[in-house]
Amino acid sequence: MFEKSVECSKCGKLFPCDKVLSVCSECGGALLFRYDSDELTEKVSKDLLARRQKSFWKFIEFLPLSSQKSIVSLGEPYTPILRLPNTHDVSFKNLFIKDEGRLPTGTFKARGMAVAVSKLKELGIKRVAIPSAGNAASALAAYGTKAGMDVYAFMPKDVPTAILKESVFLGAKVYLVDGLISHAAKIVEKLGRKYGWFNLSTNKQPYRFEGYKIMAFEIAEQFDWNPPENIFFPTGGGEGIIGLWKGFNELKELGWIEKTPRLVLVQSSGCAPLVKAYNEGEAEVKKTWENADTIAAGLRVPHPYASYLILRALKETDGIAIAVGDEEILSSIKAFMKMGIYACPEAASTLAALRKLENHRILDTDENILLCITGNLMKYFDTIKLERDKVPLLDKDADSLD
Ligand SMILES: Cc1ncc(COP(=O)(O)O)c(C=O)c1O
Ligand SMILES: [Zn+2]
Repeated sequence: MFEKSVECSKCGKLFPCDKVLSVCSECGGALLFRYDSDELTEKVSKDLLARRQKSFWKFIEFLPLSSQKSIVSLGEPYTPILRLPNTHDVSFKNLFIKDEGRLPTGTFKARGMAVAVSKLKELGIKRVAIPSAGNAASALAAYGTKAGMDVYAFMPKDVPTAILKESVFLGAKVYLVDGLISHAAKIVEKLGRKYGWFNLSTNKQPYRFEGYKIMAFEIAEQFDWNPPENIFFPTGGGEGIIGLWKGFNELKELGWIEKTPRLVLVQSSGCAPLVKAYNEGEAEVKKTWENADTIAAGLRVPHPYASYLILRALKETDGIAIAVGDEEILSSIKAFMKMGIYACPEAASTLAALRKLENHRILDTDENILLCITGNLMKYFDTIKLERDKVPLLDKDADSLD
């Protein structure tokens, strides 16, 4: 309603909003919707938003949809912020989480797909395809099939079983790839042209960012338009963190917040191309990460597309990039569980990162810190090892524990 153009984030070329778009035809850069902030300021206010029912779609004016009728919804809640108890094992006093695991399909990926599918339906798209570590595929399966589209999903063959089942049960045509997400992406690229699919690959279309940016809108409103100084976000392909940054920038442009929070990008040390590039002062990831391996399936992206944009978001917010090991992630999963928070490995990496940063003394212990719990642990239990033989097996009529 208030979008005025789509802009290449690399060369600045402008594109119309009502055409089906992928990446910049000039330079391959990622495309971003731009809005008319004067018109938005005139028509929408914080007070108006406060009067609306708390839901993801309350920010409809900030999305590139022509009307409410375009919305493809599975009942997305406005996800809660919870304050962590002071019993946790770090000394930061103002620690919060945002629980994205409550969204349909159990991860924040629902946001991107809810908006992308709504927009693509408006544009007349009937067949969509995605290479995915898993959660983006199941979210697309949920929204795409709800919109009556054919959904083709390509994921690494070792994707968590629950996510594979979820995608199949939701009605996607699922293909496992004997490789990583980067191999799946090449297959979608090749076959997409042959079969006429719209390719919903991470950072290769402007639609998904718009859904993720609503996280920033919710966070800002939940913190009374004074968002936390630091936001930790687990990052693989980078759409989540780019969406957050875009959302906060739009709010700053409207004058609704003063400052974009510092973004803390977290990866697994088994696949940390962004952390390496950022900490070495590079403007983009130049080399594919070799032998990418981590229990945090969504962070196993060896060479993210449009990495320059992710690194720009970090630089602009005086951000931090940090990698944590799988053992640290596992220990954080357990620590979170004891606080009543079921964080998937990607999400638990944020607590592991916080524990690590505590030793570095970079953040002030009084600052507000928000950890984004991007998904629910239940989807991953089958990937976390438990030595079953060590759990005692009782006879049917056991009358003692010996
Ligand atoms: C639960 C979860 N958290 C975080 C991420 C990373 O998100 P992004 O690819 O947008 O960086 C993923 C990606 O699959 C994920 O599934
Ligand atoms: Zn361009």
